[in-house]
Amino acid sequence: MTRSSMNPPAEWSIRLCERRDVTELLAIEQAQFPEPWTKGMLLDEISNTETRRYTVAVERGRIVGYLGVMFVLDELHVNTIGILPGNEGRGIASSLLDETLEVARARGLTKATLEVAVSNERAQQLYYRYGFKPVGVRKNYYERTHEDALVLWAQLADETEGD
Ligand SMILES: CC(C)(COP(=O)(O)OP(=O)(O)OC[C@H]1O[C@@H](n2cnc3c(N)ncnc32)[C@H](O)[C@@H]1OP(=O)(O)O)[C@@H](O)C(=O)NCCC(=O)NCCS
Repeated sequence: MTRSSMNPPAEWSIRLCERRDVTELLAIEQAQFPEPWTKGMLLDEISNTETRRYTVAVERGRIVGYLGVMFVLDELHVNTIGILPGNEGRGIASSLLDETLEVARARGLTKATLEVAVSNERAQQLYYRYGFKPVGVRKNYYERTHEDALVLWAQLADETEGD
């Protein structure tokens, strides 16, 4: 294969999510999660810009991934992350996390946490690369599947930094 016939390099860019993006987010959510959020839940999350920060990766006008986080004091909570089916393994989730973690560190946040299904090894691998570590299990966390969730934490910065 010559270089010119290979897939083009990554062309997505990251921007803040807007209410008009909800239909595309809903489609990804429904394709990727056994218990997808509803349109109303997504709209509530996107609109709550006081405590939430939702970003999307856009490639040629199409949303190929999104990440939603919540800020609680000096902690970042990863609420959701989803990649448009067929686009996994391209580094989209990593670039969304990179961008958000940079913003979180700049805001002085020191810790990050999230829940992930025990069977979701792909997502766990991604989080472990970012320094997340399992600290516990929430039994029966998911209503529909009754699956347990791992609770992961990561240290974003030395808590004495900036003192
Ligand atoms: C889990 C999920 C978010 C990962 O997203 P992703 O965009 O595929 O993740 P990335 O591409 O950034 O990284 C995944 C793998 O691709 C590899 N990768 C990164 N950049 C790459 C590139 N340019 N080309 C090929 N592979 C690449 C990474 O090495 C990584 O492998 P590893 O995790 O085994 O180390 C995605 O699979 C998804 O949407 N899953 C369903 C929803 C879900 O489970 N969300 C998490 C809930 S907690």
